[in-house]
Amino acid sequence: MTSIKVGIIGGGFSGIYSLKYCLQEKLKCKLFEGSNTIGGVWKYNKDKSGGVLKNSHASSSLAFLHPTDFPFPEGTAEFPHHSVVYNHLEKYVDYFNLRKHIQLNTYIKQVIKNNNKWIISYFKNGTTVNEIFDKIIICTGVHQTPYIPNDQHLSKFNQKKVIHSHYYEQHREQFENKNIVLIGGGETAHDIATDLATYSKHVYMSIRNGQWFQGKIVSTNEPADLFFNRFMHSIWARPYAEFIGFGNELMWGDGGTGVKEWKPKSRYFNSFLTKGREHTLWISKGRITPCGKIINIKKNLVDFGKVKAKIDYIILCTGYENTHLKKLLPKTNYNKGKFKLIFDPNDTSISYCGFVRPVVTSIPLICELQARLISKVYSNQIQLPNVKTMMNTIIKDTTRRKERFAKDWHRLNYLVDPYSHSDELATLLDCKPNMFNLFFTNNSLWRTIFFYPWSQFHYTIFSKNKRTKEIAFKQLEKLRTSLAGQRLKYFADIGTVILLVFVLCIITIISGIIYGSRFLLKMLANIGIVVSIMIILVGISMIISIQKGVTYTLRKDGNFTIKLILVILVLSYIRITKPNLYNCN
Ligand SMILES: Cc1cc2nc3c(=O)[nH]c(=O)nc-3n(C[C@H](O)[C@H](O)[C@H](O)COP(=O)(O)OP(=O)(O)OC[C@H]3O[C@@H](n4cnc5c(N)ncnc54)[C@H](O)[C@@H]3O)c2cc1C
Ligand SMILES: NC(=O)c1ccc[n+]([C@@H]2O[C@H](COP(=O)([O-])OP(=O)(O)OC[C@H]3O[C@@H](n4cnc5c(N)ncnc54)[C@H](OP(=O)(O)O)[C@@H]3O)[C@@H](O)[C@H]2O)c1
Repeated sequence: MTSIKVGIIGGGFSGIYSLKYCLQEKLKCKLFEGSNTIGGVWKYNKDKSGGVLKNSHASSSLAFLHPTDFPFPEGTAEFPHHSVVYNHLEKYVDYFNLRKHIQLNTYIKQVIKNNNKWIISYFKNGTTVNEIFDKIIICTGVHQTPYIPNDQHLSKFNQKKVIHSHYYEQHREQFENKNIVLIGGGETAHDIATDLATYSKHVYMSIRNGQWFQGKIVSTNEPADLFFNRFMHSIWARPYAEFIGFGNELMWGDGGTGVKEWKPKSRYFNSFLTKGREHTLWISKGRITPCGKIINIKKNLVDFGKVKAKIDYIILCTGYENTHLKKLLPKTNYNKGKFKLIFDPNDTSISYCGFVRPVVTSIPLICELQARLISKVYSNQIQLPNVKTMMNTIIKDTTRRKERFAKDWHRLNYLVDPYSHSDELATLLDCKPNMFNLFFTNNSLWRTIFFYPWSQFHYTIFSKNKRTKEIAFKQLEKLRTSLAGQRLKYFADIGTVILLVFVLCIITIISGIIYGSRFLLKMLANIGIVVSIMIILVGISMIISIQKGVTYTLRKDGNFTIKLILVILVLSYIRITKPNLYNCN
């Protein structure tokens, strides 16, 4: 045990992970939690505002909720009820013997730095207690302070009847048989709309800037969020995202719902994706009316343009802001850019875990990587870059996120692409798999990591801890053999062929430039023939697969076709690129 003392504020996923990893690195730790339990938003309490609703299920699939060294047991539902997630975190705390380092019912009033030490202050038995730490980790979550818009129209409605989703559970009974306007298109709006549709009179769901909705599943029990892999990320991430967006619109219409009023203003994957489409069923059942932004409010009459309705309540599902940090950190500029959204470059003795929002996957997944990094930095096993480099990285990262997530930036400047962001954290942690080396040293592992669903277990396969490593291999194997894994492989095969053809075309054009235009024309004709054969073969394989109807056959047939195509391609290529065997005249 070192003499470095770490104070952790908040006992949700990010606080618990921070505690576990800091203890693992032999740091002296104490976690302060304001409420009477760990779990943060995942602990349901009808009488407490915020957090999950009574019937909430996770919106991210189980694959992305596993702690990497303590996975959920076999047989857990793909989208578990909040109680399952909470209970698992409780078991995690017991398994790693963390409880004795946690002080519940301790709401931290403020944290200030004095003489190079951090002073944490809280009330106990009517007096203020100050405790001193060398390092501080802020884990208070990004869903503490409800965001109440300062809106000219909303201010005209009876303010007693405007309620933020944070307080939904305590007011639930009031909404029975009432006309409600829901504002927002995030997952809270989705879940509340689906709940309200069962017992209120009518719901008007108002989304001001449109929204992408992505169904949670693609067949009975196949999580949609598993449909991404390293191959797509490194080779055709943008076209793949466009392809999935196109597929969604083809099947379900604009923005994944077909609702004109909700047509997104951003491209698929360039804004937060609301995972869930359950509410759309209630549109067709006549219980929800989709609306655009509010144009005017006169007394209780709300005007959405085409739709006008008499309303009893307005529920704001407008998300959260981080202003609670102002009170907690009165002398710290918590708002300024942070290195990888974690470290203040000028004072790395304070760090932030959980202040991130991935467009897909889950916050806990990113928190775990953040906690691993913080613990390694605080135990001096990893040196962060110098201040100037960190500052430059912040500017670069911020510009990139601002450009990509232009629609959401003003509200969610911590939105990230989880795949790139995790890789960046893993690079700092030196646990990112080296795909080049792996290709030659363990090709089957390389294939699993490259072609099957992306996973946080990519970052623990080389763990020095035997148990953690075994868990990683087991989970990756599970993903490989999953239905989604098999389908993904099929897409990847097609992608590989397209890529190969592309490379062949480039080589052909270069050879044409070297050997002359007639030669080029002949080679292009050859490639045309090969591509046509390929398209026919892929088409036949798809028809056979669709007729058989089962996903597994899709993969089998697909693979056979792909292999055949590869043989034809290689043979044709040898023929094309040997000018002395080919009569160019
Ligand atoms: C309704 C809802 C549903 C969600 N569902 C999902 C989901 O399905 N999948 C997903 O990935 N994410 C989901 N999330 C996001 C969720 O926030 C993260 O999954 C994760 O719980 C964040 O953990 P955290 O520890 O960072 O924050 P929190 O869970 O918010 O925990 C913060 C903790 O800090 C404590 N705290 C705050 N201030 C102080 C203080 N001053 N002193 C002491 N203690 C303090 C709080 O009491 C709380 O326990 C959901 C969020 C909400 C609001
Ligand atoms: N089942 C689940 O797992 C579940 C359930 C609920 C919540 N969550 C999680 O909880 C977090 C918070 O979700 P959330 O839905 O509460 O918030 P959110 O995702 O931040 O969404 C807020 C919504 O409110 C809109 N909005 C904000 N200000 C507005 C204004 N002034 N006027 C009109 N509309 C406005 C936003 O529109 P713009 O896009 O135009 O800004 C957006 O549609 C997320 O991480 C989410 O994943 C998960």
